[in-house]
Amino acid sequence: MKKTRKIYQLKLITHKTISDAEKAVAKIVCAQVTKNKKSILSLATGGTFVNVYKYIVQSANKHKIDFQNIKTFNLDEYANLDKRFISESYHSYMHNNLFKHLNINAKNTHFPPAINPTSYDKAIDKAGGIDLQLLGIGHNGHIAFNEPGSLLTSKTRKINLTKDTIKANSRFFDNNTSNVPKQAVTMGLATILKAKKHILLATGQAKAAAIKKLLLNKYDPRYPCTALVYCPNVEIHIDESIRVS
Ligand code: F6R
Repeated sequence: MKKTRKIYQLKLITHKTISDAEKAVAKIVCAQVTKNKKSILSLATGGTFVNVYKYIVQSANKHKIDFQNIKTFNLDEYANLDKRFISESYHSYMHNNLFKHLNINAKNTHFPPAINPTSYDKAIDKAGGIDLQLLGIGHNGHIAFNEPGSLLTSKTRKINLTKDTIKANSRFFDNNTSNVPKQAVTMGLATILKAKKHILLATGQAKAAAIKKLLLNKYDPRYPCTALVYCPNVEIHIDESIRVS
């Protein structure tokens, strides 16, 4: 059972459980790839998407969905990751959770480069632009690693992670904030906003404050997620633990 509410152009879909929300997002990705075998997908990482990718793999195997000509552009990657934590890189995450289970062509998968980051924006444009943009959200309202104060005009770039983000991500680094990279390379807000369709997934009570800011439907640079009010085709998938009213 799900409830759908339209808040201006933002479509809010509240699912009964977290796994319902994850499955719904997986279904959207599979439908996109089935409809257009040459889709350009922009992918998110983080705890929120682990099960989404698991469900995509299950569905791809069951329905023989063809990813061979799909191109992917990930949202972000850590900079200067300590070798001890190389398995926490977003390259590893994507390989282990998704790519190695699909017939995707490795040369069609992309991550923002630390050197000449804006070449990433050009590569996305050259590929034809993002058809489907997946997004998670930080407690502080970041999307990708566009931290509070990021400009609407921002392109792919290196960014300093905030204390909030470092603390939140320390769970992947032996619960020790000093192990978390202090910088990342992130797709910019301008790049993200250009996608044709946005699917934001937020699960668990801890994301409620950021989602509430977005649902005010007013751009506020302190909450980068609110930039999505400028996009025409945004779906926000949440579970019932996120009380928005
Ligand atoms: C990761 C990304 C980030 C995460 C956000 C939430 O590629 O773009 O914005 O989506 O930090 O992370 P989790 O899902 O771990 O709570």
